[in-house]
Amino acid sequence: MHPTPPAQRVTALLFRRLPARLDTIPADGETATWRRPMRSAHAEMSFDTDPRRVEAARRVTAAVVGRAGVRDRDVVGTVQLLVSEIVTNAIVHGNTNSVSFQLTCDAAGDVLIEVDDHSSGGPEVREAGPDDEGGRGMQLVSFFARDWGRKGSCTWCTFTARSS
Ligand SMILES: Nc1ncnc2c1ncn2[C@@H]1O[C@H](COP(=O)(O)OP(=O)(O)OP(=O)(O)O)[C@@H](O)[C@H]1O
Ligand SMILES: [Mg+2]
Repeated sequence: MHPTPPAQRVTALLFRRLPARLDTIPADGETATWRRPMRSAHAEMSFDTDPRRVEAARRVTAAVVGRAGVRDRDVVGTVQLLVSEIVTNAIVHGNTNSVSFQLTCDAAGDVLIEVDDHSSGGPEVREAGPDDEGGRGMQLVSFFARDWGRKGSCTWCTFTARSS
C-alpha cells in the first residue's frame, strides 16, 4: 500500500501535469478558467555602465518573472522592454559609473522595477519627431507601465503581470 502523499505534494504534482492555462471549459453556458498560482520573486544587481549590462538585466528579468509564475511571453517581453529602457537611460544619461537595479514581482503579479543611477537629473517624456534618433524610450515606458516616476536618484515603474 502506498502512503498517502501530503496535500501540498498532490497540488504540486497536479500543477506539473496541468497546462499553464486551461482555456475556456464550456459547461451549460458556463465557462471556467484555471490560473496558475503566483509567488513573489525578487532580484537585485549592481553593475558598471557598460551597455552590455542591459542584456544581463533582461536575462535576470526573465528569470524573476518566470519564477513568479508568468508564462506569457508577451508579458515577459514587456517587462524586459521596460527594464531595457530604464537601465539604458541610467547608463547613457546618468552621470555615474554604477547602476543599481532591483526587480520585484509579488504573488499578485504586481511588478516593481527600480533603477538607481546615483545621480541628479532624471527622465522626461519627450516628443520625438519622425527624424529624431532618440526620445522614444520614455514614451514606451509611459505607455506600457502602470505608473512611473523618479524618487531621488532612482527611476521606478510598475506593471501588472498576472499569470495566464
Ligand atoms: N536616468 C536619467 N538621468 C538623466 N536624464 C535622463 C534619464 N533618463 C532619461 N533622461 C532624459 O530623458 C530624456 C528622454 O528619455 P528617452 O529614453 O525617452 O529618450 P532617449 O534616451 O534620449 O532616446 P531613446 O529613444 O534611445 O531611449 C533623455 O533624452 C534624457 O534627457
Ligand atoms: Mg532612452
